[in-house]
Order: sequence, then structure tokens, then C-alpha cells
Amino acid sequence: MHADLLSALPQNGRLTLGPGAWLLAGFASKRADELVAEVHRIAEAAPFRFMTTRGGHTMSVAMTNCGDVGWVTDRAGYRYAATDPLSGLHWPAMPPLFRELAKQAAAAGGFPDFSPDACLINRYAPGARMSLHQDRDERDLDAPIVSVSLGLPAAFLFGGQRRSDRPRRVLLRSGDVGVWGGPSRLAFHGIGPLPPGSDPLCGPYRFNLTFRTAL
Ligand code: SIN
Ligand code: FE2
Repeated sequence: MHADLLSALPQNGRLTLGPGAWLLAGFASKRADELVAEVHRIAEAAPFRFMTTRGGHTMSVAMTNCGDVGWVTDRAGYRYAATDPLSGLHWPAMPPLFRELAKQAAAAGGFPDFSPDACLINRYAPGARMSLHQDRDERDLDAPIVSVSLGLPAAFLFGGQRRSDRPRRVLLRSGDVGVWGGPSRLAFHGIGPLPPGSDPLCGPYRFNLTFRTAL
């Protein structure tokens, strides 16, 4: 991991990633252990699984969801679904702590009315990555994205409106929260391959909670 990625950003500092796009360093640190406990509880009801893209490619990141709807992908493509395709049951409810934290982070990023109905939970093992993409499966693009990092550090790639815009690289550490909306709502973003490591809270993993207003 490159030490220079975010070395200038103090804990509880904030970094502007673009217009309407912020990285709030350590915003979730105080509640990280409770957040991880909730992730494990959710995964007991709706286990992490490796989803398939429309093109038949298996993703390297394992995923589950909580909330009114969950993001899923399979040979039929990307969509939000009210039930877990593995069980046919509704996704686990969004824990009040998740909702509160997401609302507070959104407000700190200048979006005071955020009301998330979906939380995608990503689990990265060493080598897992997420290629540059836009979050554009949501109906209301006025609502921001709130993205919480837990566990092992990873390189965040944050680009512009076009895939070809050269992305900025910043290090995401456990407790860091990204908020992007407004003119940056459709910014391309991704995660570089996770370096191996051992995190006191998450062991060999990085978890990411992505909050969205999907419906
Ligand atoms: C995502 O864009 O869905 C995940 C971002 C992250 O893992 O930080
Ligand atoms: Fe995304």
C-alpha cells in the first residue's frame, strides 16, 4: 500500500474528492465494532455470496444487503430486489445504527435529507477489487451515495463523469466514510485489488457499506 495516498489527511479531517464529493476520515471509527457486529448478524440471515454479471463473470467481491431492497446482479443484469434470491425472503432490516450513521455522514457532506432504503454490503478478501463503475441503478439520482469502509485499507479510485477521466487514488481506512452526490453523483469509482493483511476488527477482510436511496 502506498503511504503517500492519504498521508496528509488527519483522522477526522475531510478531503474534497470533487464538487459535492467528500471523504470524511474516521467518521465511523467510534462505532466500527458495532457496525461490524451488525454485518455478521446480517450475514447469518443473508449470507455473503459471489454474484454474476450479465456477461457471466463472477465478481471477486462477495455481497449481501440489508434494507427495503437489495442490489443484485445475475445473468438478467443489475437491479434492486425486495427479496434475497438465495432464500426468497426479504433482506434483513437496516439496523437503526446504519441508518443514523448514513444520515449523519450525508448531512456532514452537505446532503441533510438523506433517507437510505438500501444498503449493499461488500466483502473484500485479498485480491478482490471493483472496477471503475457508476452507481446508476437508483431511481432518484438527487440522493447522494454514502460509503463506509471497515477493516483492511484499500485504494479508492475516484474519477469523473467519463470512464476515461483519470481517477484520483486515495487510501480508505477503517472508519472512513465517502459521500458523493450532486454534480459528482455519477462519478466513476472503484477499488484497487485488496492487499493482504490482518485487521484487529475484520481479520483478513475489508467490508464496505454502500447506502443509497434506490426506490
Ligand atoms: C462500490 O462502489 O459498490 C463499493 C465501493 C467500496 O467498496 O468502497
Ligand atoms: Fe459503486
